[in-house]
Amino acid sequence: MSAVFIPPAHPVTDVPPVVEETLQPGEREALLTRIKRLMRERDAVLVAHYYTSGELQRLAEETGGCVSDSLEMARFGHASKAKTLIVAGVRFMGETAKILNPEKRVLMPDLNAECSLDLSCPADEFTRFCDAHPDRTVVVYANTSAEVKARADWMVTSSIAVKVAEHLKARGEKLIWAPDRYLGDYVRRATGADMLLWQGSCVVHERFKAEGILALRAEYPEAAVLVHPESPAAVIALADVVGSTTQLIRAAATLPNPVLIVATDNGIFHKMREAAPGKRLLEAPTGGTGATCVSCAHCPWMAMNGLKNLLAVLETGGNEIHVAETVRARAVHSINRMLEFAGQSGIVVAGQSAD
Ligand code: 13P
Ligand code: SF4
Repeated sequence: MSAVFIPPAHPVTDVPPVVEETLQPGEREALLTRIKRLMRERDAVLVAHYYTSGELQRLAEETGGCVSDSLEMARFGHASKAKTLIVAGVRFMGETAKILNPEKRVLMPDLNAECSLDLSCPADEFTRFCDAHPDRTVVVYANTSAEVKARADWMVTSSIAVKVAEHLKARGEKLIWAPDRYLGDYVRRATGADMLLWQGSCVVHERFKAEGILALRAEYPEAAVLVHPESPAAVIALADVVGSTTQLIRAAATLPNPVLIVATDNGIFHKMREAAPGKRLLEAPTGGTGATCVSCAHCPWMAMNGLKNLLAVLETGGNEIHVAETVRARAVHSINRMLEFAGQSGIVVAGQSAD
């Protein structure tokens, strides 16, 4: 038997500060007018993630685009007749949109909008890891590069990860899981599947602190705790609901609790407020006593999307996403496998019945 290959940890230390776009009085309206005109002229739609600014989310909805989780962003692009997709999110979301829609032009406001999970999983090292375990089915999270998806058997999102792992376990398959070790640990505990975990993490979610949530819950005993599964196990253990971004928004609307402690990027509050009007939304603490946080419940890469750089890509056609056809042709299989599984199992991946 070959020796177990222990994946190297790739802690992402070079995290940029969160810089929100600042606009002069009057500038916002002028930008919005020009953006809307150019979107019509360029036959473009805006596809935005829940973690982008409320401004971009409103614009996407007002102009016939969509606001959703990473998978639904790609599915929307596929269904849309527009020739150009503008993806306001992080790079892997633009790449996934391109993989599923090769005939469309995919632009992003800022190509430096990375993701620490994607950065933690370089394709060459990941390939060595997989090659060392040829008996294992390779399952990767959406938050990976096109090259990593091309090496995988399955791509999953957080809304369907447990279901896919259960399915593969029932078929007697052993898994490689990458890159999020917290999500992997959660799925492993939920399913009992035999999983080897890559050691990546999300710089936003790994900062949530169980101790801080306990203190907040003592202050608000009527509160429910909503947690994204990229969070550490001690935080997940305190959750009333664990789920993807769409599932957490749905839970906010349906739970009876008047107060919600939310352990995910605070960009989600824009949609959560709409879904659960009148409820009090509290950000889960990211630092213990005396600690400082780097990410402070907001993804610095998501914050790179703004109205100014959105206008710039519409004007110049710059920041286009390209995926080599040899990579795309392989990556699309791992994505389609999940989509087919979701369809066959009657699971709506983004938003309704995956849990
Ligand atoms: P969702 O697909 O659940 O929206 O998550 C994407 C993400 O990056 C979470 O940090
Ligand atoms: Fe990646 Fe975390 Fe940002 Fe999501 S919140 S895009 S997982 S760094």
